[in-house]
Amino acid sequence: MDHSPILIIGQNGKTGRRVDERLQALGYSTRGVSRSTSPSFDWKRPETWRIALEGTRSAYVIYQPDLAVPNAASDIKAFVETAREVGLEHIVLLSGRGEAGAQRAEEIVKSCGLSWNILRTSWFCQNFSESFMLDGILAGELVLPAGDTLEPFIDVDDIADVATATLTEPSLRNRLFEITGPRAMSFAQCMSEISAALGRPVRYTQVSVDTYIDALEEQGMPDEMQWLLRELFTEVLDGRNSQVTSGVQEVLGRPATDFKTYVQKVIESGVWKAKALQKSA
Ligand SMILES: NC(=O)c1ccc[n+]([C@@H]2O[C@H](COP(=O)([O-])OP(=O)(O)OC[C@H]3O[C@@H](n4cnc5c(N)ncnc54)[C@H](OP(=O)(O)O)[C@@H]3O)[C@@H](O)[C@H]2O)c1
Repeated sequence: MDHSPILIIGQNGKTGRRVDERLQALGYSTRGVSRSTSPSFDWKRPETWRIALEGTRSAYVIYQPDLAVPNAASDIKAFVETAREVGLEHIVLLSGRGEAGAQRAEEIVKSCGLSWNILRTSWFCQNFSESFMLDGILAGELVLPAGDTLEPFIDVDDIADVATATLTEPSLRNRLFEITGPRAMSFAQCMSEISAALGRPVRYTQVSVDTYIDALEEQGMPDEMQWLLRELFTEVLDGRNSQVTSGVQEVLGRPATDFKTYVQKVIESGVWKAKALQKSA
């Protein structure tokens, strides 16, 4: 048996943390990396890549901030070349649906000569509880330029289960899995389900993309993230990705987790306790 570790890029992130937990529970050795680990790994510092890769056999790869940014494909190309040089066997790339940049990166991985998997996923449910939409929920109002677009939000626990399967079962290699949640929902519908389950009002407020981005600029959000959010809300979230897929069922032999189950898990974790309640607790 090969005892060399499985590399996890973005170890502390939404998916990496969960993939790491699952692999360790199965007895695999892992090496989780990001800018704050030792060895460190920074997509903006290619000199950190080789040392992170050396001695690993497979890699779970998330790109930062997103495969949609202009230099993503060239970074992925340079990364897979380094991975080949150090003898990596297998790469699992987390990708997004409907992004031209993501699809360029996918093609590079598929043709790089290593064995591969692509996990092309819909928007994460956990954006509501572990990312940029959390503050809106705590404040009781989520302000976004998302319109009525339907999105089949996926529970990140499902992504981690699929990633773990692809990293550990050679029979799944060299396949792209398009994975989504089981229900296409609007952001307003998500807010209404969260609000009903929480038992307090959390409403969705629609604004124009320009108003939204201006507000982010006032809050000091870096230009790259402003560009990315504009891209996501104009190019990617236009309905092209509303279709539900059976990717989770195909890999795991069980249905994808419903949004209601995700909401119950977050309520039990306490993450959505309103700030006022958190202070008085
Ligand atoms: N959110 C969605 O709905 C969605 C949907 C489809 C695809 N995706 C893709 O998912 C990926 C993100 O995965 P995730 O949500 O699991 O990760 P994440 O939670 O966004 O972040 C993971 C970790 O990345 C590290 N990081 C930040 N900048 C970095 C850099 N320059 N180099 C190396 N590490 C860096 C951070 O740790 P340190 O601070 O320690 O570096 C962070 O903890 C993106 O490529 C995105 O396109 C997201």
